[in-house]
Amino acid sequence: MTRHFLRDDDLSAGEQAEVLELAKRLKADRYAERPLEGPRTVAVVFDKPTLRTQVSFVTGIAELGGFPMVVDGRLARIGERESVADTARVLGRQVSAIVWRTYDQSRIEEMADYSGVPVVNALTDQFHPCQLLADLQTIAEHKGRLSEVTVSFLGDAATNMSHSYLLAGARAGMHVRVSGPDGFGPQPHFLVAAQQIAADTGGSASYLLDPHEAVDGADVVVTDTWVSMGREDEAEQRAKPFEPYAVTEKLLTEAADDAIVMHCLPAYRGKEISAEVLDGPRSVVWDEAENRLHAQKALLVWLLRQPENQPKKQPQKQPKKQRENR
Ligand code: NVA
Repeated sequence: MTRHFLRDDDLSAGEQAEVLELAKRLKADRYAERPLEGPRTVAVVFDKPTLRTQVSFVTGIAELGGFPMVVDGRLARIGERESVADTARVLGRQVSAIVWRTYDQSRIEEMADYSGVPVVNALTDQFHPCQLLADLQTIAEHKGRLSEVTVSFLGDAATNMSHSYLLAGARAGMHVRVSGPDGFGPQPHFLVAAQQIAADTGGSASYLLDPHEAVDGADVVVTDTWVSMGREDEAEQRAKPFEPYAVTEKLLTEAADDAIVMHCLPAYRGKEISAEVLDGPRSVVWDEAENRLHAQKALLVWLLRQPENQPKKQPQKQPKKQRENR
């Protein structure tokens, strides 16, 4: 069975640690691994807007010796012009891996079912697991560890970043608190999954309505846009209920004295985060953005190394001579 990275808990705790260790090594020596030498092609497909993800995957694939083939989802119209399964079969015959940013998680699961090559989730409505690898790398750099670090995510706790924090943070043994207004809590089954993971790793996972309770003593405070891609028409109605969850200097006085602040970007100063916080001394958002590159390269190296993901041998055609001699 091909190994994919479709959601944060596709990596065991040990595997997550291996990828993060590799990310650290690749940050120190960017050309240390060249598994895509050839060059082998990786398809990088976007059904939603992108900046960091496109730049970091294209740069990363090139640095690994490969060729990044960016596919514009507006042209490909996957699932509309051609089924997800047929697209997967076509891509899988030509490329070494598929990186996809799309809408519902079921789409990327279907891609993985039919591709025969590793599929990487570059953001779906439900998860943003590559961002979390970069976030964990950043937290480890600034806090020296992940285990037992308390991280509070404030904002739309019903969306991809919140779910990914729950699963990836729990895997890393962190105490993960997600906090958002009533009606914007995490999908209950993802919260339960995170709690089950945390029971094994010594971490914890919770949803808190009260942002003050969530931030209390936190080592890391994280936020994200209140209006995720595809939800633009809800922007106005969200503003008021989300206001108490804005990451401001005032709210941060309740976090640990040495708390760091993170944001996957793009950021809306004056909405989910104040300009003084984003541009202030606690903010590690530029390290976080850079680490997308190192963490994703590490993930690709790790995936391509898995025995299940070794290229399948094409059935050998008999040489003409042999056939004639039969
Ligand atoms: N929750 C955001 C993340 C952006 C990187 C979105 O899905 O738009």
